[in-house]
Amino acid sequence: MSQFNIAVIPGDGIGKEVIPEGLKVLQAAAEKHGIELSFTHFDWSCETYHKTGRMMPEDGLEQLKAFDSIFLGAVGFPGVPDHISLWGLLLPIRRAFNQYVNLRPVRLFEGLQSPLANKKPGDIDFYVVRENVEGEYSAIGGIQYEGTDDEVVLQQSVFTRKGTDRILKYAFELAQTRDKKHVSSATKSNGLFHSMPYWDSRVAAMAEHYPEVKVDQFHIDIFTANLVRMPEFYDVIVGSNLFGDILSDLGPACTGTIAIAPSANINPEKDLPSMFEPVHGSAPDIAGQNIANPIGTIWAAAMMMQHLGHPEMHDTIMTAIETAIREGHALTRDMGGSANTQQLGQAITDLILSH
Ligand code: NAI
Ligand code: MG
Repeated sequence: MSQFNIAVIPGDGIGKEVIPEGLKVLQAAAEKHGIELSFTHFDWSCETYHKTGRMMPEDGLEQLKAFDSIFLGAVGFPGVPDHISLWGLLLPIRRAFNQYVNLRPVRLFEGLQSPLANKKPGDIDFYVVRENVEGEYSAIGGIQYEGTDDEVVLQQSVFTRKGTDRILKYAFELAQTRDKKHVSSATKSNGLFHSMPYWDSRVAAMAEHYPEVKVDQFHIDIFTANLVRMPEFYDVIVGSNLFGDILSDLGPACTGTIAIAPSANINPEKDLPSMFEPVHGSAPDIAGQNIANPIGTIWAAAMMMQHLGHPEMHDTIMTAIETAIREGHALTRDMGGSANTQQLGQAITDLILSH
């Protein structure tokens, strides 16, 4: 029997509300498929920061290292600046464990209304492959003459050949498994003088190894417009850390709600744990109300099991999500229903246990 040890970090805000639903669904799917999951909880969060001055203990990464996967809710809450919370927990995990792929599927489900006119299920079905450990998200830079009229701020982007090539390779390999076999690269080589022309040249070089994959590129500004105008055009989108981040909120928003979108921080070599979380954040505006949609978290759980070598568990969970949305079981407010977080989590769990 397969056995996996999962580190669970609910984090802040609605992270604490959606993670229990993810665990409930995982447990049900695991029982069904004879897999044993053991969960170890870590209370690392902005609350921990207030108590200890750190988002996680000094040996936090060491503690996580031995787990098969990390299951995360959301990080960040008013009272702690966002760059402190993110750089104190989420970003160090992504980097230390070489989770250089951030894979974010976007799909319009039957039963959900897209805010875009006349879009039906099948019209929106693509992946955002986001570079996850370098690019624009860097702590390199500084501030000089702070607080004076001469204040100067520098923020450095980092693009390495290794880092650029490996994310592009992942995107092309993924495209090869898809019907459309189509990669679209996000660029801005007209404005960013060094990094994006470099990125484009690596895309062109990588494309030569994949003659059967169709490839194109769009500047990020028109890319965002196109995603709204003609989402059906896209299949696999690859972008730098910043561009991928933006497109992977825009994409799910076009499917009705960002709350259903999952995010897999993948170490493809599998020599260190990967991390699975919803795309959304801690949603302080609705935290504590028990109305958060747990589907992004539950879909992330499905991706985790796929990564751990159990596609049958992934499929079981996805079928339950699809059925719940299509048949309108206990939908939360963001999907036009009136159910609460637990009712939707329970409905999906019941669908798994009864099929
Ligand atoms: P957010 O994703 O938390 O919220 C954006 C909007 O979507 C809000 O109106 C919220 O109510 C709604 N929403 C989000 N998730 C939902 C759900 N499951 N069900 C129903 N509605 C949902 O983004 P925001 O407001 O920019 O950030 C809030 C905090 O979260 C900040 O501290 C930010 O740094 C952090 N954050 C953390 C992320 C992570 O841990 N990976 C990702 C994004 C933001
Ligand atoms: Mg984001």
